[in-house]
Amino acid sequence: MRMIPQSILVTGATGQVGTELIASLRKIHGPEQVLATDIHPPDSGMNGGPFELLNVLDETGMRRLFERYRPTQVFHLAALLSAVGEKQPQKAWQLNMEGLLHVLRLSVEFKVEKVFWPSSIAVFGPLSPKKNTPQNCIMNPHSVYGISKLAGERWCEYYARHHGLDVRSLRYPGLIGWQADPGGGTTDYAVHIFHEALKTNSYRCFLAENTRLPMMSMPDAIRATIELMEAPRERIRIRSSYNIAGISFTPGELAAAIRARLPGFRINYLENDPRQEIADSWPESIDDTEARQDWNWKPAYDMDRLTDAMLKNIRRNRTFVHDL
Ligand code: SER
Repeated sequence: MRMIPQSILVTGATGQVGTELIASLRKIHGPEQVLATDIHPPDSGMNGGPFELLNVLDETGMRRLFERYRPTQVFHLAALLSAVGEKQPQKAWQLNMEGLLHVLRLSVEFKVEKVFWPSSIAVFGPLSPKKNTPQNCIMNPHSVYGISKLAGERWCEYYARHHGLDVRSLRYPGLIGWQADPGGGTTDYAVHIFHEALKTNSYRCFLAENTRLPMMSMPDAIRATIELMEAPRERIRIRSSYNIAGISFTPGELAAAIRARLPGFRINYLENDPRQEIADSWPESIDDTEARQDWNWKPAYDMDRLTDAMLKNIRRNRTFVHDL
């Protein structure tokens, strides 16, 4: 069966998720079919496909790109994450909300077939059940990032209901990948720890030893995103955002998994980091029954596979850089 050619526009393409998603989308659809956009120019060649500078707050600039490229699918990733958001709450609200509303409005106007927008475990708060947090429960997010994601979920559902927009979303847990740095989130320690372990065999962790949080390997997150977007429209019953789960662990458990592979690895824990309060307001684990039922979601990475893959790939990239 021949695939109908897609024209895909991605915002926030040079970020942690964007970097890897662009590579996968270009493999599936061809490099020329996937337009990468970001407020920052890319460090490298962006896998040979087109790139345009775009500030998502500039609706006119975004409209120009919709006119020129006529996207059939939009992946709107540009956002300020939880930790940086707390330092600039006004800016986080403006960027996360207005950016999304520009995408939703233009997607209706230009008859975009499908829109993807990531939500987060940050939509939950201290009153939400901590373990196996269900799809629907009390949600009282404490961070401005979480507030913006929860409001964004309501807007997505609103656009699906009132405008028939095929908008799909996942509540990403902390994402752990080797290709790109995370951009100022509360779960970033789980990426930094691998780089420091290979550099110095030690790590100073900004979260406490027993802080359990929902996490996921980047390959699982990218696959979840693509599978959600490729699922038949009628299978997508949730138009706010789906819970998805990968692995839940604490810094202490991750350090032990690293130490089993790098003997002598040392970790100490910083106190009074503002990110601790955000982490304490989030779930420990997520119930993703609906995603499993509706579009057959199933994670592939457990703690051992994740740890092996992170160490192997970061080592390989470092060797590559040294070889140049
Ligand atoms: N990883 C994100 C953050 O820590 C959660 O969505 O902000």
